[in-house]
Amino acid sequence: MKNRLAYIIALLLTMTPASALAMPWSWDMFLQPSCRAQKCPAPPTPPGLIPTTGDPFYAKDRAEAAKLKNPFPMTAESIERGRQRYNIFCATCHGDSGVGNGPVGQKYVTPADLTSAYVQSKPDGDIFYTITHGGLAVMPSYRDSVAQDDRWHIVNYIKGFFGRAAEKKPQGAASAAR
Ligand code: HEC
Repeated sequence: MKNRLAYIIALLLTMTPASALAMPWSWDMFLQPSCRAQKCPAPPTPPGLIPTTGDPFYAKDRAEAAKLKNPFPMTAESIERGRQRYNIFCATCHGDSGVGNGPVGQKYVTPADLTSAYVQSKPDGDIFYTITHGGLAVMPSYRDSVAQDDRWHIVNYIKGFFGRAAEKKPQGAASAAR
């Protein structure tokens, strides 16, 4: 009988979960200095925050964006930076040569031909707006993946590289290349 009781106690002890042995449970969350809503002064602003207002390239719509000035002159460095970013973010749809024949572009809605007079005649700020907010119909926004400066470099690449390539081609060659 005594042996059996000792056996049961031993059994119960081995079954005790580790969390129960750690009791009393932590009261830290309960005991922390707490404040009711609107009762304490706001904590100081941590350094290094990026303000959400004062965006130098903020435009409320496409028409306003068209007035934005490209802060980067069309240098070889800017075009090269734009080429790299274009190949990463845009070529999947618009194609390496910009005519809209990228692998995703062929399966998805046909993308705009970036070498066309339609796109080439657009102000830099309009194309910047398209990258930031997406196209007129289905093209997604690239605001979260392409940095502001890089958007302007991409604009320089579209105009400086595709634009000049289109100038050399006879009329209609861009669409024939599809
Ligand atoms: C997922 C495919 C896809 C990707 C990636 C994409 N585009 Fe587009 N783009 C489209 C489609 C489709 C259209 C035409 C329909 C529309 O405007 O939404 C278009 C239209 C455009 C236009 C013309 C808009 C107008 O004013 O009519 C420009 C300029 C453009 N894209 C630039 C870019 C640039 C620059 C990138 C890279 C940052 C990019 N696109 C990435 C699919 C894409």
